[in-house]
Amino acid sequence: MNKDISKIYFSAEDIKVKITEMAKELDAVYEGEEVLFVGVLKGSLPFFVDLARCVSFPVMFDFICASSYGSSTHSSGTLKITKDLSTSVEGKNVLVVEDILDSGNTLFNLFAHLSKQNPKSLKLCCLLDKPSRRERDIKADFTGFTIPDEFVVGYGLDYAERYRELPYIGILKSEVYENR
Ligand code: PRP
Ligand code: MN
Ligand code: MG
Repeated sequence: MNKDISKIYFSAEDIKVKITEMAKELDAVYEGEEVLFVGVLKGSLPFFVDLARCVSFPVMFDFICASSYGSSTHSSGTLKITKDLSTSVEGKNVLVVEDILDSGNTLFNLFAHLSKQNPKSLKLCCLLDKPSRRERDIKADFTGFTIPDEFVVGYGLDYAERYRELPYIGILKSEVYENR
């Protein structure tokens, strides 16, 4: 285990089992139709590729790099897109794939942006959900694990751009962020 991690929250095996379950749910909804997976960079990457390899319908890949300045003090919250999609979503089944739904600001604004472009369907799939932190009225259509408000890293989730490569999701030791 990485020396900065105090506890493994979800092991690589736990994640694998969960993704298999989620893929079955997705298979039942899309029934063999083609789906455009939209990954929100960078945190969604490990989940995105593992999920895409587990489903039984055809998948197209695209990515968007976006973050939101929305916070409790800025209720409007504008979306800043630093890398946009390279294909059109019009007429497609679009599944936004995310590592975590936290305040909901990023995804709320991203959904407003994508729904204007007339996708055939638009749904949200998140590996983790922290409902206690929500500031926006947004729910995932597919959720892996619901977690309390703990600082988790790994499997795409970072702290200061580190720990994304860990194959598990763990709790970061508090001294790591207190010593900076
Ligand atoms: C994190 C996470 C989600 C978003 C969730 O991304 O990966 O995309 O925040 O937060 P929210 O619900 O409060 O909007 P981050 O902006 O840290 O970028 P990253 O994916 O590159 O780490
Ligand atoms: Mn992210
Ligand atoms: Mg991050």
